[in-house]
Amino acid sequence: MKKNKLEILDCKEYDIEEIFQIVSASGSIFLKCVLDNVIVGYIMARQVFDEVDIINVAIKKDCRAMGLGSKMMEKILSLSDNISIYSLEVRESNIPAIGLYEKFGFKRIGIRKNYYQSPKEDGLIMVRSNRC
Ligand SMILES: CC(C)(COP(=O)(O)OP(=O)(O)OC[C@H]1O[C@@H](n2cnc3c(N)ncnc32)[C@H](O)[C@@H]1OP(=O)(O)O)[C@@H](O)C(=O)NCCC(=O)NCCS
Repeated sequence: MKKNKLEILDCKEYDIEEIFQIVSASGSIFLKCVLDNVIVGYIMARQVFDEVDIINVAIKKDCRAMGLGSKMMEKILSLSDNISIYSLEVRESNIPAIGLYEKFGFKRIGIRKNYYQSPKEDGLIMVRSNRC
């Protein structure tokens, strides 16, 4: 019987459309930030029942510290009234991101040892709970 050929490769620009189809079909929330008709950032999260895990958020370098990350956080936090907890991981040295998350009520609840590679670093686990 013929074996299937499997490869795990870096994504390229031309793969984005197919990747997007898979992401959209997997319960992910994927928002873009558009400034004067130009995409300058995105936020990606995954909802499972009443829990949302924020997977990544990024703003183009020359558009940072202008409040755009905050606008995306505001948007994602307002998408549903039925979320009990938002969670995420962040490099413990990522001061701008930690500042953004703390601004929106995320608290540090733990550490994942060596969660990140290149460079190796611990990840902070942060949550924002809507539970009483
Ligand atoms: C993290 C990131 C998305 C923040 O986006 P941004 O548009 O610059 O954020 P904002 O301008 O809305 O700032 C929000 C808050 O973050 C904090 N912050 C932003 N930049 C900061 C900096 N350079 N130093 C310290 N705190 C900073 C502040 O608390 C700020 O609130 P304030 O302006 O009311 O004081 C952006 O820095 C980025 O794209 N970083 C690279 C990707 C990344 O690290 N993503 C996180 C992965 S977990």
